Amino acid sequence: MKFSSVLLFAPLAAAIWPLPSSYSSGDGVLWIGPNVDVTYNPPSTNHSADYASNSSSGAAWSQIIVQKAIHRTYETLFTQNFVPWKFHPRNEDFEPPTGNQTFISSIVLEQTAVDPENVLRPLAGDVDESYDLSLTSAGTAKITAKTSIGLVRGMTTFAQLFFQHSSGGVYTTLAPVTISDSPKFPHRGLNMDVSRNYFPVFEIKKMIDSMAFTKFNRLHLHITDAQSWPLEIPALPELSAKGKYCPGCVYTSEDVSDIQLYGALQGIEVYLEIDMPGHTSSIHFSHPELVAAFNVQPDWDTYAAEPPSGTLKLNDSAVDDFLDTLLGDLLPRLAPYAAYFHTGGDEVNQNAYLLDETVQSNDTDVLQPLIQDFVDANHARVRAAGLTPVVWEEMLLFWNVTMGDDVVVQTWQSNEAVVDTVKRGHKVLVGNYNFWYLDCGKGQWLDFNPGDSSAQYWPYADYCSPRKSWRLMYSLDPLDGVPANATDLVLGGECHIWAEQTDPVNIDTMVWPRACAAAEVLWSGPKDAEGQNRSQVEASPRLSEMRERLVARGVGAEPIQMPFCTMNGTQCAL
Ligand SMILES: *[C@@H]1O[C@H](CO)[C@@H](O)[C@H](O)[C@H]1NC(C)=O
Ligand SMILES: *[C@@H]1O[C@H](CO)[C@@H](O)[C@H](O)[C@H]1NC(C)=O
Ligand SMILES: *[C@@H]1O[C@H](CO)[C@@H](O)[C@H](O)[C@H]1NC(C)=O
Ligand SMILES: *[C@@H]1O[C@H](CO)[C@@H](O)[C@H](O)[C@H]1NC(C)=O
Ligand SMILES: *[C@@H]1O[C@H](CO)[C@@H](O)[C@H](O)[C@H]1NC(C)=O
Ligand SMILES: *[C@@H]1O[C@H](CO)[C@@H](O)[C@H](O)[C@H]1NC(C)=O
Ligand SMILES: *[C@@H]1O[C@H](CO)[C@@H](O)[C@H](O)[C@H]1NC(C)=O
Ligand SMILES: *[C@@H]1O[C@H](CO)[C@@H](O)[C@H](O)[C@H]1NC(C)=O
Ligand SMILES: *[C@@H]1O[C@H](CO)[C@@H](O)[C@H](O)[C@H]1NC(C)=O
Repeated sequence: MKFSSVLLFAPLAAAIWPLPSSYSSGDGVLWIGPNVDVTYNPPSTNHSADYASNSSSGAAWSQIIVQKAIHRTYETLFTQNFVPWKFHPRNEDFEPPTGNQTFISSIVLEQTAVDPENVLRPLAGDVDESYDLSLTSAGTAKITAKTSIGLVRGMTTFAQLFFQHSSGGVYTTLAPVTISDSPKFPHRGLNMDVSRNYFPVFEIKKMIDSMAFTKFNRLHLHITDAQSWPLEIPALPELSAKGKYCPGCVYTSEDVSDIQLYGALQGIEVYLEIDMPGHTSSIHFSHPELVAAFNVQPDWDTYAAEPPSGTLKLNDSAVDDFLDTLLGDLLPRLAPYAAYFHTGGDEVNQNAYLLDETVQSNDTDVLQPLIQDFVDANHARVRAAGLTPVVWEEMLLFWNVTMGDDVVVQTWQSNEAVVDTVKRGHKVLVGNYNFWYLDCGKGQWLDFNPGDSSAQYWPYADYCSPRKSWRLMYSLDPLDGVPANATDLVLGGECHIWAEQTDPVNIDTMVWPRACAAAEVLWSGPKDAEGQNRSQVEASPRLSEMRERLVARGVGAEPIQMPFCTMNGTQCAL
């Protein structure tokens, strides 16, 4: 209480998002210029030659990871910064005088251990992301971390200490600074649907940049669905040739590797999902023989959650052969830059199998063994490629599929699903749609059948209305109801941007800055050092500031308040 009331009257909240584990700062002014001396001290090793030459060692990548992070830090500080007038009373001269400047002389980046070999494709927790940061009043900065990715996280924090001066130059008012920081959860992700609408490669990279800036570390690409198949599979070129939305609306093998490496070098693992056996209607465009119940009209909703209906046949050796070819081609190409592969499994519609001539039943007793076989076969393929399977919660919680305890279960329907999953001994990702679905609240996109009265659908809400505000997102506790002896099974979670009503025009606004709320819950944890819920009073101006930082980086993040509210303390408290 006391802590937050101090902050209420400090016009500029501590800038950093997500909040570090431990953080102290002063009120000294320091300037920073592009000629600041930056040195990287890699860990001492008896294999130092690895750093220059051996591309299969983690050590060789460390140099590249850190060099790129230094470059991004420069860009953030000197070309993508902002003047923080929104956080000071109007007409106040809030900027430090430009005479007698003390400049930061050096930034030392010290890595104390060799990066693990799988630094570009870690399982949750394999890469230590912790770091210590100090900035003295005299102007020397040091970031220490066990890994290159820890240094990346530390540099991200460092960049958030600084502001643009309106007459040129870049400064902090927070010296001296001491930070010790590490993430609460090892899997901090965004699930991005790039099938229902197509997003060019550069949009996905832009998303990765913003995610790294808020210390996310997983981008889950939901890359195929019922509506389009943008993923090129060289062994099955007809899939994207016929299933893509438009010429060029594809992700080539090179695109996928390029996106993955781009993410990995920022400590963001990009992993793919092929959702199946439902959500596969787009396979029909090239392989009608493999898909049952395709695009039933008008009562598609008997057979699927969304048009066009359709599912892979469940008892057909041709489907099995097809998946052998598909995954045999795809998975080895993903493995250099990912530890996971998501085999989907949500919203399997029983009735679709009434129209599947290999099954002709919607009885769960008939379907369950077929689903079990389907998952077993896919997971064997995933493991054979050296990857770890991820599935949607229904496979475990509805279909009772028996799966290896390596399998990560992604929950979405409730907090209880998290508890039920850990009780069955599985690792779990949170993402309750009542909190972390970024697509909700835009209203109904489904049209009406001619002759139906549209009035019956008034006021035209969508399935998960209302919109989830950052405050609601911030209130999700990933460990809600989880027994103390099972908290380690909660790897973290993902927020979700489904793309029925999102395309490159509005993606920034749909995701940012609200995803920051999930990023902070996952990095800092939902509770403060005293075990209380984190204060939204403290978070609100800090998120407004983070939004300004995103905008300065060219991200169309929406405002969460008016400047009137952020300019002078508590004027907008209810
Ligand atoms: C290198 O190896 C030698 C001999 O095994 C050992 O004494 C030394 O401590 C090692 N140095 C480092 C930096 O690990
Ligand atoms: C490269 O590094 C890896 C992992 O550190 C090591 O196993 C391998 O022997 C090294 N290769 C060469 C040619 O030095
Ligand atoms: C800021 O708020 C305080 C407390 O409400 C008030 O006394 C002061 O006049 C305000 N200053 C400005 C510039 O609005
Ligand atoms: C210049 O700044 C230094 C360090 O902040 C301070 O000690 C010194 O008094 C200042 N000198 C003048 C002339 O303001
Ligand atoms: C699956 O197909 C085989 C023939 O290929 C058939 O014998 C079997 O009854 C089918 N299973 C179900 C559950 O329909
Ligand atoms: C299964 O299909 C029958 C019609 O064949 C239908 O009455 C029943 O509701 C369906 N069961 C489910 C679970 O949808
Ligand atoms: C899964 O198990 C539960 C509890 O035993 C049972 O009620 C449910 O019917 C099973 N689901 C299926 C699809 O077999
Ligand atoms: C803390 O947050 C949870 C929701 O995550 C809520 O149920 C609870 O009431 C909050 N506790 C307090 C003291 O506000
Ligand atoms: C946690 O404790 C409960 C009750 O003692 C036990 O049934 C359960 O297996 C334990 N779970 C784990 C993940 O250890």
